[in-house]
Amino acid sequence: MKSKISAPGKIILFGEHAVVYGYPAIASAINRRLSIDSFGKVQSDVPIGAGMGSSAAYAVATSAIKFGGKPLNLEKINLDAYEMEKKRHGNPSGIDNTISTYGGLLWYRKETENLKVFKQLTSKINPPRLFLVNSGRPSETTKEMVAYVKDLHLNKTQKIEDLFKEVEKIAKSFAKFIFNEEAVNFGTLIHQNELLLERLGVVSESTKNLIRKIEKIGGMAKITGAGGIKTDSGMVMIYHDVPNVLLDFLKSLNLEVKEAKLDEEGVRYEE
Ligand code: PMV
Repeated sequence: MKSKISAPGKIILFGEHAVVYGYPAIASAINRRLSIDSFGKVQSDVPIGAGMGSSAAYAVATSAIKFGGKPLNLEKINLDAYEMEKKRHGNPSGIDNTISTYGGLLWYRKETENLKVFKQLTSKINPPRLFLVNSGRPSETTKEMVAYVKDLHLNKTQKIEDLFKEVEKIAKSFAKFIFNEEAVNFGTLIHQNELLLERLGVVSESTKNLIRKIEKIGGMAKITGAGGIKTDSGMVMIYHDVPNVLLDFLKSLNLEVKEAKLDEEGVRYEE
């Protein structure tokens, strides 16, 4: 019997790279999906190599087709997809396959290889509108970017750990924001995380320039995912208090912009 299964792409709102070292990160499934049918035919509107989790969506959908069953066994799929992600980049945090399997908006932390803790963040507020612009495909792969940070971490352990602790504070502030526990400026959190990623060295000059331009018109932006150094850094997520100001500005730069719908469903049958 023919079946078709789809899995969503994702964005990391806060905590990329830090999450590889046991710090928390926040990821959301978004309204872009990859599907596979039982004949192996793949369809996708998740861009490749842009930090939107296309390879994890592929791994998750492939595992789901392999195991089948109704309902899908999410735990089994997630574990299997994680093994595929390991082959792809050696030392993944597991956040990409987890968000693509379970969907939603997740708080995620890899405590140890066999203890990965995650929780759905049920929003008590209207989630802010987020926009995505592609700064361009990075020259480096995720694997290379993760290896680059590993090297830094090895040579300047204290400095990098301190930086990741700052990232953790941002992730916690976001949780307080989404639970309406504290008045937090969402745009500021994005900006702070971006500055930390720039200090880490995973944002290219051209992408920094784009982000500075967006800040000049009152927007706040950060890369999402592994980033890139030599040329571009993949997807950039943007928040603006007045979305139309941002949309007009991006249009004037001839940049294609898409709204990211957050909190989308995880892996599922399509037919
Ligand atoms: O595959 P990307 O570009 O979404 O990056 C994954 C996020 C990292 O934190 C850089 C790596 C990981 O495994 O968590």
